[in-house]
Amino acid sequence: MHEIIVNIQSSKAERYEELLPQISSLIGGEADLTANLANVSAALKEAFGFFWAGFYMVGPAAAGREEQLVLGPFQGPVACTRISYGKGVCGSAWKEGRSIVVEDVELFPGHIACSSLSRSEIVVPLDVPGRGIIGVLDIDSTEVGTFDEVDRKYLEKLCRIICESVK
Ligand code: SME
Repeated sequence: MHEIIVNIQSSKAERYEELLPQISSLIGGEADLTANLANVSAALKEAFGFFWAGFYMVGPAAAGREEQLVLGPFQGPVACTRISYGKGVCGSAWKEGRSIVVEDVELFPGHIACSSLSRSEIVVPLDVPGRGIIGVLDIDSTEVGTFDEVDRKYLEKLCRIICESVK
């Protein structure tokens, strides 16, 4: 049986400390990336109750155009399906090759509003050694200022765990 158990009374850092080893073992026994990303989205939603948590994966654009981010496994309300290179927070994190914390989406030029309820956001690239960025992790909150350097540190660690599992 697979269950995610975190103490909701713990601090945010403690919750990530509890969650990451569980995610490691959850995805360690499975080689299929889609299955693992689906479970990571569910684990994040379960542990933190995020409004939206999921992945956009680098994929071919329709009609032979350039690569785009395409919606992957996620938990939360329906979302935009395609994001171009350099566009929005996700496309910027992909282009710049770094994680981006957005305290207030209204202050991020070019932010793509998949939901009018989204007020803050963090995006972390999935950077596979020797292969480059294959996608991004995106988490949205309905409140301003939800994400900080604690989230950045642990979500970057989470993305490294995911990337190490990519065959
Ligand atoms: N807000 C994102 C788009 C994805 S949704 O938030 C799920 C962005 O600006 O890239």
